[in-house]
Amino acid sequence: MKHTVFYIIDFDSTFVTVEALDELAKISLVGNPKQDKIVSDIATITREGMEGKIPFAVSLKKRVRLLGANKQHIATLSKKLAASITPSVQRNKDFFKSFSERTYIISGGFSEYIVPIVSPFGIHKSHVLANRFLYDKKGNITGYDRKNPLSKNEGKVRAVESLGLKGEVIVLGDGITDYQIKERGKADTFFAFTENVRRSGVVVKADGVVSDFDEFLYLQHLPRKQSYPKSRMKVLLLEKIDQRAVDKFQNDGFVVETVSSSLDESALKKAIADVSVLGIRSKTELSKLVLENAKKLLAVGAYCIGTNQIDLQTCSERGIAVFNAPYSNTRSVVELALGNIIMLYRKAVDKSVNLHKGIWDKSASGCFEVRGKKLGIIGYGNIGTQLGILAEDLGMDVYFYDIVDKLALGNAKRCASLGELLQMSDVITVHVDGRKSNKNLITKYEFEKMKKGVIFLNLSRGFIVDIIALADAVKRGIVAGCAVDVFPEEPKSNTELFVSVLQGLPNTILTPHIGGSTEEAQKNIGEFVTGKLVDFINNGTTTLSVNFPTIQLPPQGKSHRLIHLHKNTPGLLASINTILAKHMINVEAQFLKTNDAIGYVITDVNRDYGQDVLEELRNIKGTIRLRVLY
Ligand code: NAI
Repeated sequence: MKHTVFYIIDFDSTFVTVEALDELAKISLVGNPKQDKIVSDIATITREGMEGKIPFAVSLKKRVRLLGANKQHIATLSKKLAASITPSVQRNKDFFKSFSERTYIISGGFSEYIVPIVSPFGIHKSHVLANRFLYDKKGNITGYDRKNPLSKNEGKVRAVESLGLKGEVIVLGDGITDYQIKERGKADTFFAFTENVRRSGVVVKADGVVSDFDEFLYLQHLPRKQSYPKSRMKVLLLEKIDQRAVDKFQNDGFVVETVSSSLDESALKKAIADVSVLGIRSKTELSKLVLENAKKLLAVGAYCIGTNQIDLQTCSERGIAVFNAPYSNTRSVVELALGNIIMLYRKAVDKSVNLHKGIWDKSASGCFEVRGKKLGIIGYGNIGTQLGILAEDLGMDVYFYDIVDKLALGNAKRCASLGELLQMSDVITVHVDGRKSNKNLITKYEFEKMKKGVIFLNLSRGFIVDIIALADAVKRGIVAGCAVDVFPEEPKSNTELFVSVLQGLPNTILTPHIGGSTEEAQKNIGEFVTGKLVDFINNGTTTLSVNFPTIQLPPQGKSHRLIHLHKNTPGLLASINTILAKHMINVEAQFLKTNDAIGYVITDVNRDYGQDVLEELRNIKGTIRLRVLY
């Protein structure tokens, strides 16, 4: 005979987020001068009852006496409860509908308000085990049916016993009275439910602890809304990543752990073992050794621009998608560059420093407007292009040089060579990326080519400009003013001393790598990278991934999504489709994208398939990972 399992699910703080009698008190006591005190007393009595500090029957009696409620209050309460259904319960309404014959809702509360809440979930009133109120003729609550087993101590135990269930019994709840059903031998297993409240005295006694209903269904291999519960996915965020990222992950149901600093290799190796999503900034090195220990890792978010600190090849080989924030601080860098250009042309910083010392230097000599000056941008990428547009608004003539053929925006003109740009520009600003070959892109040789009196800026990477040559060019008057935000060697923390040959030079603005450091940029990065990671986990979208083939997927609908990630070798798509055809699986949509290293095949299929299909897909030679989403 097939093994039958019955599910006994607690109502207050489990099926709904609140304790219903506490809520009833808030409703029935409106206008009562002692309302706050009575509501708080009722909440205390509820808690003491749930934690087993006072017998249940005592707790119920005390609370009903304090309530002073009537039928109208119950109607108001039902509305409130309907809006307070626990999110993971609400999400999995289909489960209740399919398993209503084997599901009971249990409560030391009252069926008058429970039945209307659970009926839409397909649960019949005969499956609601709860007390009943007694009323006077006017509809005022006068007490409750004392014959009902649930009004007595260990009422839940007695109620389950009276059902005489033949099969396995599993209880899910947040309180000690739920645990007692198992303790007294009337259930086989008790799961503590902690989505709404975590009672440590209950958790320690439980056979299992689930942080939401998704996790419960997952552990029981039951049909559910989330293929893999988010509550089992740990997100580790290092290096003080913006709070908005933490909130976004938590709101989506992930478990989030934060560490304010970066971690060294050995600490990270340990910390990463059970992590599904890792967030880092520029100071955390994600080496092969660390990644080899990352058994559950699906994705890495670089909450910064660069990804040099990450071993991308190993990430690809292990099927770990990496995302960064290539544009989030572009505007901040552009604004600083523009401000610097104006300040340098007006020698404003030196004049300010002098004025602080009491020196009044009101001279126009060597000071200029930026209007009509030729701005030469080296590296016409995200930052270079946006700077060009804003500089034009200030009346500058924009020229750029890029190794890639780039579309000129606005009236910007392309220079055929770096030499051409160097020779013609009044202001030169470097915005190339950090590839190795850009080391010492600007040296003595390039400074020699520049116009005498040029304004020079580097807000890209420190190693791109030879700063000894820059210092020399300033001293020799080739460069009339410079702004440098990035240095070949930068202090690792705010406590380390900064030393540079540029210190003390005239009309030289030095800033501590703050080009992208604004609150807006941090907010943008936090939201942008988190959004990419959540999209990837939830539906497989890889838009703007650094190492995965990028693909924007449509929402999934009712189908299941099979995500097959493999080494990019010929014939893999055919192998996948042969297996699907052999099992007569109805394919609703299919997407394929590859890059040099990886092939990414997404197949949306009808829900009717067996586990053997997944096994066969996993066994295709070259498979890195198979994920199933629904
Ligand atoms: P991007 O990648 O969008 O643009 C770089 C451009 O430089 C590309 O168009 C590329 O083709 C071009 N390029 C590369 N090597 C070149 C060369 N040798 N000669 C001419 N063109 C070359 O990068 P994005 O976002 O515009 O950033 C630019 C730089 O700014 C990067 O080095 C980045 O690390 C740095 N940055 C600095 C910040 C700060 O706080 N100071 C903040 C953000 C970015």
